Amino acid sequence: MAKKHEPPVPQDMMPKHIAIIMDGNGRWAKKRGMPRTYGHVQGALAFRKLLRYANDIGIKYISFYAFSTENWKRPDDEVHALMDLMRKYLKEAYDHFDLRTRFVLLGDEDGFEPDLRKQFIDIQKDTDGFEKMTAGIAANYGSRHELTCAFRKLAEQVQRGELAPEDITEDLISQNLYTKDMPDVDLMIRPGGEQRISNFLLWQCAYAEFYFCDTLWPDFDSKELDKAIVEFARRTRRFGGL
Ligand code: IPE
Ligand code: IPE
Ligand code: MG
Repeated sequence: MAKKHEPPVPQDMMPKHIAIIMDGNGRWAKKRGMPRTYGHVQGALAFRKLLRYANDIGIKYISFYAFSTENWKRPDDEVHALMDLMRKYLKEAYDHFDLRTRFVLLGDEDGFEPDLRKQFIDIQKDTDGFEKMTAGIAANYGSRHELTCAFRKLAEQVQRGELAPEDITEDLISQNLYTKDMPDVDLMIRPGGEQRISNFLLWQCAYAEFYFCDTLWPDFDSKELDKAIVEFARRTRRFGGL
């Protein structure tokens, strides 16, 4: 059996929920004179390794940004390649049940082809009982879309007389997001050199610490994750207090 890795900081200083924007696949491939889709293949391998490593060091919640609601604007062949990669990895997830990881789709399942939509529904159902770690897969995800859907749902309940406007609390809004069973994000990581959030978990990141680095996603490995966690543990979070 593979040797268990030690967490880079004591368990009580670790972030509970890490979110990662997997960015830079296209540039990684371009630098090597390869098509962008090759970068996505390598990025998916990085995802697989990092998921296992995060599980190993005891991360409880991790969310990966795989495909945004805005990414549909990309050329058809790139979108197809990304959807096929998701099909492949959702199938493969059944070989990794030793991770005892519950998969949760963060995103609108209705945007996918029926077979892929079914794969997302099945993997969530089939891993629902796992308690070691929760992995959010953000696909067809956009924070504004998520919030809009939540507000619309609550407005409909008010209209039907099932909910009073004053009963709309921060908690109730959180309960109506894809992340309803997950705590807020503690550490948001964006590799790839850009310093922006690109519509990812806006509500859930209200008090997250941000970590940006230039490493392109396919090169982001366990050492890079350790660096981000060490930096997180070094920071003082005040949540508005003193
Ligand atoms: C991230 O890499 C993967 C997705 C957005 C699906 P990019 O494809 O955005 O790579 P760059 O940013 O163009 O290098
Ligand atoms: C964010 O990356 C989305 C994912 C990583 C899935 P993008 O490459 O799409 O974001 P922008 O265009 O740089 O804002
Ligand atoms: Mg990008």
